[in-house]
Amino acid sequence: MPVGFDIGNSSCFVAVARQGGIETIDNEYSSRNTPAFVSFNEKNRSIGVSAKNQCITNLKNTVSVFKRFIGRKFTDPFVQQELTDFPKPYKVEQGKNGEILIKVQYLEGEQQFTPEQMMAALLTKLKQISEAGLKTKVVDVVVSVPTFFTDIERRAMLNSCEVAGLNCMKVMNDSTAAALGYGIYKQDLPAETEKAKNVVFVDIGYCSLQVAIVAFHKTKLKVLATNFDPCLGGRNFDKILADYFQQDFKERYKVDAGKNMKARLRLETECERLKKLMSANTQSIPINIECFMDDKDVTGRMDRTQFEELSAGLLQRIETVFQTLLENSKMSTSDLAAVEIVGGSSRVPSIKSLVQKVFGIEPSTTLNADEAVARGCSLQNAILNPTFRVRDFSINDAQPYSITLSWQATMEEDR
Ligand SMILES: Nc1ncnc2c1ncn2[C@@H]1O[C@H](COP(=O)(O)OP(=O)(O)OP(=O)(O)O)[C@@H](O)[C@H]1O
Ligand SMILES: [Mg+2]
Repeated sequence: MPVGFDIGNSSCFVAVARQGGIETIDNEYSSRNTPAFVSFNEKNRSIGVSAKNQCITNLKNTVSVFKRFIGRKFTDPFVQQELTDFPKPYKVEQGKNGEILIKVQYLEGEQQFTPEQMMAALLTKLKQISEAGLKTKVVDVVVSVPTFFTDIERRAMLNSCEVAGLNCMKVMNDSTAAALGYGIYKQDLPAETEKAKNVVFVDIGYCSLQVAIVAFHKTKLKVLATNFDPCLGGRNFDKILADYFQQDFKERYKVDAGKNMKARLRLETECERLKKLMSANTQSIPINIECFMDDKDVTGRMDRTQFEELSAGLLQRIETVFQTLLENSKMSTSDLAAVEIVGGSSRVPSIKSLVQKVFGIEPSTTLNADEAVARGCSLQNAILNPTFRVRDFSINDAQPYSITLSWQATMEEDR
């Protein structure tokens, strides 16, 4: 079965390409969304929904957002920045060889795991979900990675797949997966001899923003340009809200969530809920947390206008990412046929307005914002798998990093 996994920093999806279309597979909680969480306790390890449910009650032993760490050393500035900007409730330390070690209480005592092992645990869970859903063994998969992943990070993902007993046929860029899912079913793409249809893909998830311009013909797609901000996603908006209410509650209730990780996490969870409600409503929305700190109940309010004012800096950064993409592609907005938006945070109204502002086109939601990447991966798997018949469609992907070739010249060779 051609299975594809979208491995997000917050949520994972499993899709399978079958005759007659693509299906997204439910987990044991009848949900398509499997949270990227692994939780440990004295008796067992849980992964996915049940692990995320423990993120407050079993704070220190519930591990999330580890995709950011794979293939990196502890002293890597990216890792240090992550730990400073988004402190982890679980212990993260440096190992003997400079590697990252995550330490948790599991079974009899403290145990340590590398981020690659955490990823392998998550992949094992996704393998089980696919096998339960399809009632067959699943080994060959296509797995998504962010466009900005380096070769080392991609190899780390391949290693994790191997540990999970999976044969990863390809690690596919998130944006390219979304583009494949778009192109293969489109009936109105131009013939080879005609001018390509150029489509922008915007994927904004939990931790990052990825954008791409892709040229489509009937039988092929070519990624023309990509851009990204690896540190700008939905959680940055939650942080802005949480920082605001932390200060507000400090003044009005004399409690400081900055000094208590559990309180801060509860605040961030409530802020995420508030943010989602503000996506659908313009009126002011309440936030209430019972027994927040010192047995005090706290309450506050915010509306979309105020939220947009607070997030002006983030919105500016997103605008720059869009603009740079356009500049890099050397295209003008009149060359673009559509802008497809995916990722959970693409539901934020101010981000949609930015699409309109920079690209001059109303964003389209032809693709399923949550499942597009997994669906594209399953299609890629079907294309690679000789036992499945898919219509001919070739993919010409881009690679954002420059490659340096070097060699040892022989005596006779001109240097
Ligand atoms: N209605 C909504 N309004 C605003 N934000 C939303 C809404 N629904 C989901 N989100 C946000 O979308 C984010 C999750 O998106 P998604 O599942 O695409 O991320 P991910 O793929 O796990 O992360 P990444 O791609 O960064 O690894 C969260 O920050 C969540 O708060
Ligand atoms: Mg994603």
